[in-house]
Amino acid sequence: MIFGRVKPLDAILATAEKKSLVRTLGPVQLTLLGVGAIIGTGIFVLTAEAAQKAGPGMMLSFVIAGFVCAVAALCYSELASMVPVSGSAYTYTYAVMGELLAWMVGWALVLEYAVAASAVSVGWSGYFVGLLKSSLGIEIPAALATGPYAGGVVNLPALIIALLVTWLLMIGTTESARFNAVLVAVKVVALSVFVAITIPMINGANFEPFAPNGWAGTGGSGLGVVGAAASIFFAYVGFDAVSTAAEETKNPQRNVPIGLIGSLGICTVFYILVAAGAIGTIGAQPVTGPGGEILAPGTPALAEQCQSLAAIGREPLVCSREALAHVLRQLGWEQVGNLIGLAAFLALPSVILMMLFGQTRIFFVMARDGLLPEKLASVHPRWKTPHVVTAITGAFVAVAAAFLPVGQLADVSNSGTLFAFFMVALSVMILRRADPHRPRPFRTPAVWIVAPLAIIGCVGLYANLPFEAKMVLPVWGGIGLALYYAYGYRKSHVGRGIVDVHEEDRDVPPQPVPPLPGAPTPGGKEA
Ligand code: ALA
Repeated sequence: MIFGRVKPLDAILATAEKKSLVRTLGPVQLTLLGVGAIIGTGIFVLTAEAAQKAGPGMMLSFVIAGFVCAVAALCYSELASMVPVSGSAYTYTYAVMGELLAWMVGWALVLEYAVAASAVSVGWSGYFVGLLKSSLGIEIPAALATGPYAGGVVNLPALIIALLVTWLLMIGTTESARFNAVLVAVKVVALSVFVAITIPMINGANFEPFAPNGWAGTGGSGLGVVGAAASIFFAYVGFDAVSTAAEETKNPQRNVPIGLIGSLGICTVFYILVAAGAIGTIGAQPVTGPGGEILAPGTPALAEQCQSLAAIGREPLVCSREALAHVLRQLGWEQVGNLIGLAAFLALPSVILMMLFGQTRIFFVMARDGLLPEKLASVHPRWKTPHVVTAITGAFVAVAAAFLPVGQLADVSNSGTLFAFFMVALSVMILRRADPHRPRPFRTPAVWIVAPLAIIGCVGLYANLPFEAKMVLPVWGGIGLALYYAYGYRKSHVGRGIVDVHEEDRDVPPQPVPPLPGAPTPGGKEA
């Protein structure tokens, strides 16, 4: 029963074959694509939260999270090259493990994409507020700059940017290849400048004690080096953009792994250097409460303690909402700090755009399969976008961004992502056994080692998320299950014996991947 209603792989592939995108992407373009999708709030903002969880040991947290992503990425690539159609992990699961589990994966992907869009909106807000203050002297009242978790009422900038990006998506905005390349350059230059300034100023004493909260957090606290890895995992999310471009890649067997491992490798090196620079210059020891207890990030208690420290002229890394700009300002590089802030201000909205894009696409494919009301998949006659689903998703994303802290949002997003990666790793192995002779343009190397490692990594990180974030997944899953039996089970096209083969996937909204130079461009206005 649980594995029933498998969508025939041949029907899925028939859709893919009709699409026949031109294979234009090479290894450098793919790597750039990955770097553009990966670098965002994780490094620019969550570095502060990771410091609160792990102290200087957060350097290792970046390595652990990067490794889990690398093995998951290798599994993703095999399925992406075999089943190069819309819907990502949801579609793969449909073909391998059937409708119920596919629905659960699609439902979990809502957490990955929509909640990530909220998290990046909150991250952007921190830089926006800081930039206004430091460059123009304009101070947004605290009540309107953060949610209730930090003593405010509503995070208005986060709400507005989420709605603005939703609007852009509704009217059919996509990023142009050139615009994407510029944003990648802006992010890479910003991180390079940060590293170049901070690394020579490192003081080894700032690394002591290295792991003040230990390795794994106890009692679902999410603290410790592995706890920070579970949170900072968010910094790597987005690499799946490379695997979803498999069908547009020249020689995918060679180039997809280069693009995946290349972009993950570059980001991991950057992240470790940035973390080392931040820790080694201004220190990264966690802030403790009056009784010496470690305070959890994103809580009123930590916000209060940070305010008390600010009153006596101390602003540790963990208290900053714009971590990287803050480090440079503390070191006396005020203007360069402002420029880093400007880089985040410019580049983070494109990450929100990609996440929301991905979300609407998943919903769209699920609605097309009959698992969600088809009204959701309706395309606007003039804008040619799935405007209904985009508007509904955007409204939820904006409300979450207005009232919840960035770290908790990222943790919730990670719980959904880890579940999806887990299912992908499982699917690769099942499909190797069930259908060994099907052509695989890319084969996961050492799959019987790599896929189990991905599964162990995903379970391990999930287990180290804070208790509340961990609980969201089963509760969300329960709601999803109820919805499935109330609606999707009866309406499913596969369940009703309808097997769709879509002529050119023309009815699918544009790819969640910005086109690269020379790549076929989806229709729409350019940002
Ligand atoms: N990896 C993306 C970020 O850090 C989601 O913003």
